[in-house]
Amino acid sequence: MSDPMRPVYVLNGPNLGRLGTREPDVYGAETFADLAALCRETGRELGLSVDVRQTDDEAEMLGWLHEAADGRIPVVLNPAAFTHYSYALRDAIAQRTAPLVEVHISNPAAREEFRHTSVVAAVATGTIAGFGLRSYVLALRAIAETTS
Ligand code: DQA
Repeated sequence: MSDPMRPVYVLNGPNLGRLGTREPDVYGAETFADLAALCRETGRELGLSVDVRQTDDEAEMLGWLHEAADGRIPVVLNPAAFTHYSYALRDAIAQRTAPLVEVHISNPAAREEFRHTSVVAAVATGTIAGFGLRSYVLALRAIAETTS
């Protein structure tokens, strides 16, 4: 019998559901549905069962992070604007029991001053930013290579 595919969550914060119409000069023309398909396809190639979710609600995001911690499930997380101010998200990520990769489509370090601070980076396994939707592909590869 072949090994079951390993579960991974790809969690996305506020406004990422609007990819495609949201500031395409910054975030590109591809939609959230395109992103979800790319992540699932990458997962299939890597032997990962990828569950892609998006929410504008901080409480819902916290619940998903708690679920991942309880299930020892690796996470690719784009916290979006929560990155810059949510200590609640930081405290949830600190409870992680498996690798968690922070991702960004743009490179926040090259943008406005308020985006230069990530309050979650210190509790993530690592961060990948600035490669467009490829940031997610690279993060899934990092998870595939560092988990078994
Ligand atoms: C983002 C960068 C954040 O600064 C911003 O608030 C987002 C998207 C990115 O993927 O580039 O919503 O996380």
